[in-house]
Amino acid sequence: MQNEAKKNLLTINNLKVYFNTLEGVVRALEGVSLRMKHGKTMGLVGESGCGKSVTAHTIMKLLPPKLCKIMDGEILFQRRESGEVIDLTKIDRQSQLYRSIRGHEIAMIFQEPMTSLSPLYTVGNQIMEAILLHRQVTPKEARELAIEVLRAVAQPEK
Ligand SMILES: Nc1ncnc2c1ncn2[C@@H]1O[C@H](COP(=O)(O)OP(=O)(O)OP(=O)(O)O)[C@@H](O)[C@H]1O
Ligand SMILES: [Mg+2]
Repeated sequence: MQNEAKKNLLTINNLKVYFNTLEGVVRALEGVSLRMKHGKTMGLVGESGCGKSVTAHTIMKLLPPKLCKIMDGEILFQRRESGEVIDLTKIDRQSQLYRSIRGHEIAMIFQEPMTSLSPLYTVGNQIMEAILLHRQVTPKEARELAIEVLRAVAQPEK
């Protein structure tokens, strides 16, 4: 699987994720497989409740570990600089390794801006925060980079 995964940015094989609830086990993902190519945009479409958000949260390692378990499968992610392929299901979400990936090589924009973005800070500030966390740059340089990405998606920088 690793050799094939070297051709993709992300390779998910037979991913199974279950939730423990008071009413019993919810089999949220029952064998999800997908491939994401480098430099391509991919859309995941499906009816409400089919597992799109759980798939994204599993990749981001944001699901509550007490309630939710990865039962099977692998999430093979190719690192940007080294080209090394790692299985995200096998690494700890609090590890230094994953911290260097999340917010830098993999990020998520949440569905609800009112709850996922802080109204106390501008979007530019929140982008700067991620840049300062991961790159050796000054606040001024981070600000310029943030403005650059806002321009790239045609958002006003003020
Ligand atoms: N915390 C949870 N506890 C129990 N079951 C959950 C939990 N979160 C999600 N599920 C279940 O997992 C399944 C997949 O849900 P998910 O939120 O991924 O759907 P979705 O495709 O993102 O839907 P939508 O289009 O409505 O956003 C659903 O059956 C849902 O009820
Ligand atoms: Mg969803």
